[in-house]
Amino acid sequence: MKKLNRKKILLSKIQRCETIIGIIGLGYVGLPLALAYAEKSLKVIGFDIDSKKIKTLERGECYISHIDAARVKQAVKSKKLSATSDFSRLNEPDAIIICVPTPLTPQRDPDMSYIIKTTEQIKKCLRAGQLIVLESTTYPGTTEELVKDMLEETGMVCGRDFYLAFSPEREDPGNANYSTTTIPKVVGGVDQASGDLAQAMYEKVIQKTVRVKNARTAEAVKLTENIFRAINIAMVNELKVIYERMGIDIWDVLDAASTKPFGFMRFNPGPGWGGHCIPLDPFYLSWKARECGMETKFIELAGEVNRRMPEYMVNRLQQALNERGKSVKRSKLMIIGIAYKKDINDDRESPAYKIITSIIAMGANISYHDPFVPTVKRTRQWPDAPALKSQPLTSRTIAAQDAILIITDHTSVDYKLIAKHAKLIVDSRGVYRKPLPNVVKA
Ligand SMILES: NC(=O)c1ccc[n+]([C@@H]2O[C@H](COP(=O)([O-])OP(=O)(O)OC[C@H]3O[C@@H](n4cnc5c(N)ncnc54)[C@H](O)[C@@H]3O)[C@@H](O)[C@H]2O)c1
Repeated sequence: MKKLNRKKILLSKIQRCETIIGIIGLGYVGLPLALAYAEKSLKVIGFDIDSKKIKTLERGECYISHIDAARVKQAVKSKKLSATSDFSRLNEPDAIIICVPTPLTPQRDPDMSYIIKTTEQIKKCLRAGQLIVLESTTYPGTTEELVKDMLEETGMVCGRDFYLAFSPEREDPGNANYSTTTIPKVVGGVDQASGDLAQAMYEKVIQKTVRVKNARTAEAVKLTENIFRAINIAMVNELKVIYERMGIDIWDVLDAASTKPFGFMRFNPGPGWGGHCIPLDPFYLSWKARECGMETKFIELAGEVNRRMPEYMVNRLQQALNERGKSVKRSKLMIIGIAYKKDINDDRESPAYKIITSIIAMGANISYHDPFVPTVKRTRQWPDAPALKSQPLTSRTIAAQDAILIITDHTSVDYKLIAKHAKLIVDSRGVYRKPLPNVVKA
């Protein structure tokens, strides 16, 4: 009886758009979601441990380059969106969505510390009738085995006193064709009532929801999507290296293969994999599979191939300089693009760092140009990063370099200017399709 009432009460609140939404983790995933709810006139409280982000939001400003700052300003001004680091307020929202990071440990195992810490915080304030949804990418079973068990330590029971679901994020930062509200959203509840409530909550802002059997299936959906990308990127990277030896241009092959109207999906080669998802998420499954006594051979192989790509680019640079009677040592090299993909400011796991580290170790003098990354920060991959600032791209700076390395092909970069003035260009993104004497593909 109780179960039915709590579910009914929350469902009717959701339907009347009277739910208060709490979002934990206001990053690339959490902030757009918070805006989507605020723009539907729901009250949103964002929670983050990063006080700088909270202060920026309180001023009505935005810290993510591809999000329209006017949206943040309006959401804050209308008092629909507020942000706080006070986690004791977690009892205020009716629904709490968890969007915290899920990185890997240095041993490439899942780092569950963010999810655990967040669940601890929710546990302290959990009140009957709340819905909790995990969005952070993770191994199948996390919601049911880890989050549910921790929350039930309060004595409350999932599906009766509180509700719990998993719904993966499919954000594609910088993609102008899809946004948070237009990308179909997969939802799986730990139980029927939790799934029903989570689906109803997302239907308030997302055009299409896709209900799956349970939270575990939803967790597997997300990993499957990212593993699919990781493996296909690796395959096309491997083909690039093979075809290059055969004198075939991978970009010509892909352009032609893409004309097949069925059975082929295009993936582009590049300098390696990057971002917070593709290089990391597949290994969440590998870890869980090992626990079940299984191996994930495709994932391991994709990792091996993709991780070799920065080295391949450096080898191509070395060869090209060598042919011009030069070495990497003491050469002046300029990197174009530090972000892991075009037109965004996200440099997490960017292959640029591996390449830069490697060429600096060889004695090169480097500079870079990236309109989205004004300065280079120290990261886990690059703890000894020298202080570098994005340099303006002029005919003089280009001509002064021994080589230009195109790592990320931001749209606003003047590639014609580069082609006109550069002595050598090492292009890992297929910017220059027609053969040019100063361009080497990598
Ligand atoms: N970025 C993407 O495109 C994308 C796409 C799909 C899924 N995901 C997944 O979504 C999750 C979040 O990714 P993201 O890219 O938004 O990460 P992010 O680093 O941009 O944002 C995470 C935010 O969580 C905050 N945070 C960390 N610990 C916290 C805690 N204990 N309490 C409150 N806030 C905390 C951080 O300060 C940060 O603002 C990850 O699991 C990721 O794999 C990301």
